[in-house]
Amino acid sequence: MADLGGISVRAAAKVNLHLGVGAAREDGFHPLCTVYQAIGLYDDVTVRRATTWDLKLVTADHVNPAAVPLIDNIVHHAARALGAHHDLDLVAAIEISKTIPVAGGLAGGSADAAAALVGLDRLFRLETSDDDLLAIAAELGSDVPFALMGGTVIGTGRGELVDPIEDSGTWWWVAVPSREGMSTPEVYRRYDDLFPGADDQPKGADAVLTALATGDPAVLGRALHNDLQAAALDLRPDLARLIEVGEAAGALRGIISGSGPTCVFLATDGDSARHLGADLLGAGYEVALAAPAPVSGATLVSL
Ligand code: C5P
Repeated sequence: MADLGGISVRAAAKVNLHLGVGAAREDGFHPLCTVYQAIGLYDDVTVRRATTWDLKLVTADHVNPAAVPLIDNIVHHAARALGAHHDLDLVAAIEISKTIPVAGGLAGGSADAAAALVGLDRLFRLETSDDDLLAIAAELGSDVPFALMGGTVIGTGRGELVDPIEDSGTWWWVAVPSREGMSTPEVYRRYDDLFPGADDQPKGADAVLTALATGDPAVLGRALHNDLQAAALDLRPDLARLIEVGEAAGALRGIISGSGPTCVFLATDGDSARHLGADLLGAGYEVALAAPAPVSGATLVSL
């Protein structure tokens, strides 16, 4: 949390309710049609003015601190990109308090980048416009613009073009991270190997959009779709068993989150999510985190 003169910003993890992936573009990125939803698992990023750079990390028990780079962290990239936009050299002491599992397909790094942009913008009184913040966010990573916005959003382009969508439902998820992270580029490469004839155009998200409008988790469960799932399971076959166990324990549906390896399970309501979490722990999985959705994007929590 912020000490004197610090500003804390909270940013949420995401799941992809739909992840349609087209054939790789010339720049190597894949065209996406995705539906992001922000879930109630958070990182807090606190920024303070300083004369030299400093980065501190505080991690929840289930987060491996060794997996988070302290040199050349994405929050440094965020500070450089925001500074460059204003022709300034921004120097700050930053603390990341991390609950979002690392390299898990939940966009924890993107959440940190979004939180750093919002915090530094406020700390240095830069008053960057929302459009400019979104453009800077897009330079930092495909899902950083979403992390700024939160809620439920349709993402196109390489995922960086974001449009909020109406979502008045309350959804409950249980996230089961893995001890070992997975590399997003590697999962996309495996996707290319497995599906060399993939369409240029990604599969559209109509089924998920229709399901969201019903507010019915059973309907949404049936509509969830992830084109990267086969590639992630090819790299990590053990995750198929986890999905089976979660579904047998009452989840409406289990899927790989984004490029994985975190698996997320849609539950009927908050009580079912907590029971499901307990059952997964009982089945020997070390961590099972229940979280509501949708929640907001990067938000100031203290000044
Ligand atoms: O944009 P981001 O930094 O999150 O992307 C990480 C990597 O994931 C990219 O370098 C690329 O290999 C892969 N990726 C992709 N197509 C996308 C998004 C990411 O191939 N739409």
